[in-house]
Amino acid sequence: MKAVVYNKYGSPDVLEVTEVEKPIPKDNQVLVKIRAASLNYGNLVLLKGDPFLARFAFGLLKPKYPIPGGDIAGRVEAVGKDVKQFQPGDDVFGDLSGSGWGGFAEYVSVQEKALALKPANLSYEEAAAVPMAGVTALQSLRDKGKIQPGQKVLIHGASGGVGTFAVQIAKSFGAEVTGVCSTRNKEILQSIGADHAIDYTKEDFTKRAKKYDLILAVNGHHPISSYKRSLNLHGNFVHVGGSGAQLFQTMTLGSMISWTGKKKMSTFLQRQSQKDLIYMKELLEEGKVKPVMDKNFKMSEVKEAFRYFEEGHAKGKIVISMG
Ligand SMILES: NC(=O)c1ccc[n+]([C@@H]2O[C@H](COP(=O)([O-])OP(=O)(O)OC[C@H]3O[C@@H](n4cnc5c(N)ncnc54)[C@H](OP(=O)(O)O)[C@@H]3O)[C@@H](O)[C@H]2O)c1
Repeated sequence: MKAVVYNKYGSPDVLEVTEVEKPIPKDNQVLVKIRAASLNYGNLVLLKGDPFLARFAFGLLKPKYPIPGGDIAGRVEAVGKDVKQFQPGDDVFGDLSGSGWGGFAEYVSVQEKALALKPANLSYEEAAAVPMAGVTALQSLRDKGKIQPGQKVLIHGASGGVGTFAVQIAKSFGAEVTGVCSTRNKEILQSIGADHAIDYTKEDFTKRAKKYDLILAVNGHHPISSYKRSLNLHGNFVHVGGSGAQLFQTMTLGSMISWTGKKKMSTFLQRQSQKDLIYMKELLEEGKVKPVMDKNFKMSEVKEAFRYFEEGHAKGKIVISMG
């Protein structure tokens, strides 16, 4: 089968499309013919081995998992004898980040807990856009943010992969949602149901008098003192992504603020969850959430796909079709 392979950390230039052996599913594995896969920040971490700490999990000197790729959608081709939830012919989507990666390939063998049935109303490309970004948005709002109906929620960095899901999921919880984006992305935010859009190139929302019950920093670059100022008395700030300095501040200063005051400031780490993947499937089938699709690349264009993603200006999700 064809797969994207890399044997050393580096720029997208180290990625090669090559022939490798088609995997054979073990007793507890599902063999999926992959139709599409999507890019997430975790793919860049694994490509570059940066931050260095990540190499302790993903290979100190060279990548432990030679085929990258986490989010996938495709069709089950075969199942091992212990597999209970899926059968050949099922359309599935999933997150391979906790199961050895391998999504940028024509086939993968994976444990069933990484998969769920694909939302019936989505194409393979749309379904592949969902797992990591959608579940990150869901868990950060619901589990860390404790989102409640009627709350005023602000998503900083609302136009990328995670942000576009966060806006829609926050709306599905009945929140009043403000998204922070640049001028060119204001229309996207309106189209996915944001109540308000603030253009970060024209205005700094932390200087406004308006306060929020929950702020999700997805791609925000303010010091946490500014975010704190924009929280209501019992407001909650959740750091999902952004600069390393901001992450460090949230882990140190943010913890102190949370201990000593009524405002809560914390960091968040997504965990792979089949239950949450199924939750996302239901939201998608009910039409409450729709993936926002940016560019679609072919497997042979994987280097270009990574270069485009690392520029950091995606409008929604970037997908690679496996052909
Ligand atoms: N904690 C976790 O478990 C977890 C899981 C997944 C992802 N993440 C993190 O989440 C972050 C976002 O991931 P992603 O996949 O959504 O990235 P992405 O798709 O690459 O985000 C790109 C978007 O961010 C916007 N943006 C960039 N700088 C901005 C700024 N200063 N203010 C507002 N918007 C800005 C861009 O808009 P413009 O082009 O208009 O600038 C673009 O639409 C990453 O830092 C990633 O590490 C964390």
